[in-house]
Formats: sequence, C-alpha cells, structure tokens
Amino acid sequence: MKILGLETSCDETGVALYDTEQGLLAHALHSQIALHEVYGGVVPELASRDHVRRIIPLVRKVLSEAGVAGSDLDGVAYTAGPGLIGALLVGVSTGRSLAYGWNIPAVAVHHMEGHLLAPMLEEQAPEFPFIALLVSGGHTMLVKVEAVGSYEILGESLDDAAGEAFDKTAKLLGLAYPGGPALSALAEKGDSKRFRFPRPMTDRPGLDFSFSGLKTFAVNTYKKEGDDDQTKADIASAFVEAVVDTLGIKCKRAIQQTGIKTLVAAGGVSANTQLRKRLREICDKEGAEVFYPRPEFCTDNGAMIAYAGALRLQAGAGEALGFEGRARWPLSEL
Ligand code: KG4
Ligand code: ZN
Repeated sequence: MKILGLETSCDETGVALYDTEQGLLAHALHSQIALHEVYGGVVPELASRDHVRRIIPLVRKVLSEAGVAGSDLDGVAYTAGPGLIGALLVGVSTGRSLAYGWNIPAVAVHHMEGHLLAPMLEEQAPEFPFIALLVSGGHTMLVKVEAVGSYEILGESLDDAAGEAFDKTAKLLGLAYPGGPALSALAEKGDSKRFRFPRPMTDRPGLDFSFSGLKTFAVNTYKKEGDDDQTKADIASAFVEAVVDTLGIKCKRAIQQTGIKTLVAAGGVSANTQLRKRLREICDKEGAEVFYPRPEFCTDNGAMIAYAGALRLQAGAGEALGFEGRARWPLSEL
C-alpha cells in the first residue's frame, strides 16, 4: 500500500510517500523559518500563503523521486489538526482534492498521533505498549499507547508547552526564532550550577506539567543579573537543566506507575541533546528502553503523517467526501 502524506499544520510544508512493504520511499520538506524569523514567531497568514505556494511542487518532487505516479497510490493522508486553521486547510483541501482526482481514499490524521508514531519509522522501532513523551511547540504530554488509536493521556501541560517555553526564553535572551536549538547550544556554554530554577509540579503526585513559571523565572533572573554573555549562557543552562530534569522526573514516574518499560520521545523538543542524554540515563536505571525518531522527523514532517495514515488505512479508515480542519482536537478523542 502506497500512501502520500501531507503536513501543513504550522510552519513546515512536509510531503512524503510511505509504502507498507518497502518503507519510506521519498520525503521532502520546506521550512518557513526564514519567512517568519524577522517577526520573531509564526505569522499565520504568511504561513498559509506559503503552504499554498509550496505544496504542489513538493508533491511532484516526492512522486518523481520515488518514480511513482498518482495512479499507483492507495491513499492520501493529511494533517487535519490540531494547528493553525488557515495552514491546516491548505493540506486538508489539497489532500482531499488529490484523493478525489485519483479516486483513492483520503485519511485525516491527528498531528500528535503522527508525532507519537514517528519513532516506528526507524529500523530500531519500539513495540506496543509504550509510554510516549510528546514535546513540541504546541503540546507537552505523556501518553500511554497500547496500540494504534489507543491513547490514554497520563499527563499534560497546564499552561505553556515545553517548546513554547524554550522559544520564549530564547527570545528573551536575544536568540533568533525558533529558539529551541539555539538555546540548547547556548546552554552548553553556561554553568548550570550558578542559578537554580524550580522543577515545577515535581513535588506533588501526578504527571501534569507547567512551564510558564520557568519562563518568568528566566525573565526575573535576567533583569536582576544583567545581560552579559556569560550570564545569558548561565540562564540558558539553568533553564535547560530545569526543563530536562522535570521531563525526566515525570517520565520515570510514568514508567514506574504503569510498569511499561518502553519510552518513546517525539515532537520538536525530543531533538534536544540534553533531553536525549537524560532520558537514556533514566531508562538505563529503570531497565527500560528509549526510542526516538531521527532528528529530522522529531520536528514537523510529512513522513510521520504518511506513516500514521498508512496504519489508519490498513485498519480500515477512510472518509466521506466532506472534510474539515480542526484548530483544536484533543488526542483523547481518537
Ligand atoms: O514538533 P514541532 O516541529 O512543531 C510543533 O508541532 O509544535 O516542534 C517545534 C518546537 C519549537 O518550539 C522548537 O523550538 C522546538 O520544537 N525544538 C527544540 C529543539 N529543536 C526543536 N527545542 C529544544 N531543543 C532542540 N534541539
Ligand atoms: Zn509538531
């Protein structure tokens, strides 16, 4: 079964072709970072317009690289939500129209389901059941995954997502958007012991998160301590240490509570080297194994949508001609 996957929920246009027998045949991505950088964040209308410009050339590129014609496909999967509604509608309407034209099924995919299944694209793939730590720009969640479509949310952020906290703190320190990777690099130059940031919500039971306080802590430290280069690096270091520590504590708790010894980390922040190192240490101690997507599939991409769509199609999904994008769409509704 050959499935085309389209991702346009935020600031990346991703297209990929997945074959259930041969694996990933081709994938292509256009990042809008340069487009939004001058504004310090994603401008939704510019994002939508750029998706319109990029999506068809990317579909052509992927099909020609794989040497596959539209008529050889068995389905088109597209991200239907959650995300920026104008951006989503580009992928939704393109996906639905291509499927209609090629007379094949269209499958609406939940963006976070795409992220959480992404590690299964790798040669070293996790097996069900597993605990998924989803850490992206819009979400932070711990999910118990028993099978495709069986998602129990164990905990989630009550305010900012981990990626959002990274981006806001990076902006404060004068780093370019999106600040996550730059903040992580700056943290390597800092002294993580100079400032101690709190580990929010770790002193009480439960698996929920809260990251907005860390950002405030960073602002206050910055105002008080000045903004020389070393201080900035020390703030970055203390911030990263606090986020990584907090995520690590909750992952360990989830493993202990459920007895599930397989952990998956996915979403943009799972590309973070400090987090990867910490989760590996925790899993070693707990006798558990941790799995990640390759770094380019941690952030938004078409491959995870093609893959999730393929699994959904194999399970009998497919939909009527109507379609909608959903800016908000709880994973628990799947
Ligand atoms: O999953 P993603 O591409 O988009 C959403 O669905 O939100 O995640 C993007 C987020 C951004 O906040 C970005 O700063 C963060 O992931 N990110 C990182 C790293 N790479 C991406 N944060 C920390 N360290 C990184 N290496
Ligand atoms: Zn994402």
